[in-house]
Amino acid sequence: LASVVRCGTIDNDFFPNARKAYGSMKTLDVNGGTGHSRILVGERLANLPQYLPPGRTVIVTDTIVRKLYETQFPEVDMVTVGVGETAKTLASAQDIYGALIDLEADRTTFIVGIGGGIVCDITGFVASTYLRGVRFGFVATTLLAQVDASVGGKNGVNFRGFKNMVGVFNQPEFVICDLEMLRTLPRSERHSGFAEIIKHAAIGDSALFDFMERNLHGADTLDASVIERFVSDSVTLKADIVSRDEKEAGERRKLNFGHTLGHAIERTTGVSHGEAVAAGMVFAADLSVSRGLLDRAEADRLSALIAAYGLPVSIPADPTALMAALRRDKKRAGEGIHFVLLEGLGKAVVLEIPVAELELAISERK
Ligand SMILES: NC(=O)c1ccc[n+]([C@@H]2O[C@H](COP(=O)([O-])OP(=O)(O)OC[C@H]3O[C@@H](n4cnc5c(N)ncnc54)[C@H](O)[C@@H]3O)[C@@H](O)[C@H]2O)c1
Repeated sequence: LASVVRCGTIDNDFFPNARKAYGSMKTLDVNGGTGHSRILVGERLANLPQYLPPGRTVIVTDTIVRKLYETQFPEVDMVTVGVGETAKTLASAQDIYGALIDLEADRTTFIVGIGGGIVCDITGFVASTYLRGVRFGFVATTLLAQVDASVGGKNGVNFRGFKNMVGVFNQPEFVICDLEMLRTLPRSERHSGFAEIIKHAAIGDSALFDFMERNLHGADTLDASVIERFVSDSVTLKADIVSRDEKEAGERRKLNFGHTLGHAIERTTGVSHGEAVAAGMVFAADLSVSRGLLDRAEADRLSALIAAYGLPVSIPADPTALMAALRRDKKRAGEGIHFVLLEGLGKAVVLEIPVAELELAISERK
């Protein structure tokens, strides 16, 4: 059975060391087939020790996060990985295995990944495979990691240039989302997070969509109540979808909204993931309009929101190269390509689109 439960305070039997109830913190419980995860939105890095089981803990982090926040880490052993997609490899995983062996980490060792999506993905993968699996948790330090990467139990590394080719499904025991840590995040990284939040609103939460429209200033200044809502609503929506389809057999595909063309744009132009997804969402919304599924006015609202959050509504790219990249996409099935379209703001549908129709739409793309 899978479910998402909202609760307001830390009790508890789940984390016996957590002593206090934190007024402004929101906790969300995610029960998936591969385990139970507690997402703590608004909790602070400084309180991490309260969530650690007795015994040995090893921290995995990257060089940038370490430099910025090491003084706030608990005094435990630490393994540091490099930064960027090129560090998300089996070679980095091997380095961490080696360090764990040198540290004589055993099955009772608890591993905490402190960082963005890359650190979380590698840490979850290493913890799930070292000694056939040890317990682990995350402190998610980027907006993207808080709203997306830390929820859903996907862990893994890139291989031969293909993203996330090798990995496992497994839930972290907890994810601390320290909203204050987002203040040191470069603006471009913030925008990547906004792109995924807009995606969540567009596919399943029209109230969040309205809220994003009304709270641009709060988002820009990282107002705690605004960001808390962005993170907790995103986590709730993603956890709800994932709990119904953990291994991506159907419903979970909706989370690919904007990503099918987005990945092709990212690969062929080299723009950032968030920018490519933003342009991909606009394309998917336009396709939804031309199929008669979505009102033009709603598609325009989506484009306006994307632009307001500092993201591009279009990225020029060679149509032939885009089609070649799309054809290679793993979501291709039969004569068509699985595409997530909108039937309204907050309502997504997954359809198989004929290749010829996509070719035409891409050639007409501005
Ligand atoms: N597992 C999943 O379900 C899932 C979902 C979405 C994305 N991902 C993965 O997440 C990765 C992208 O994650 P990301 O966008 O967090 O990138 P990232 O982990 O590379 O972090 C971005 C940059 O910000 C730095 N950083 C992290 N926290 C910081 C802070 N608080 N202040 C200043 N700098 C900070 C990092 O060192 C890095 O340079 C991709 O590899 C993607 O495949 C996984």
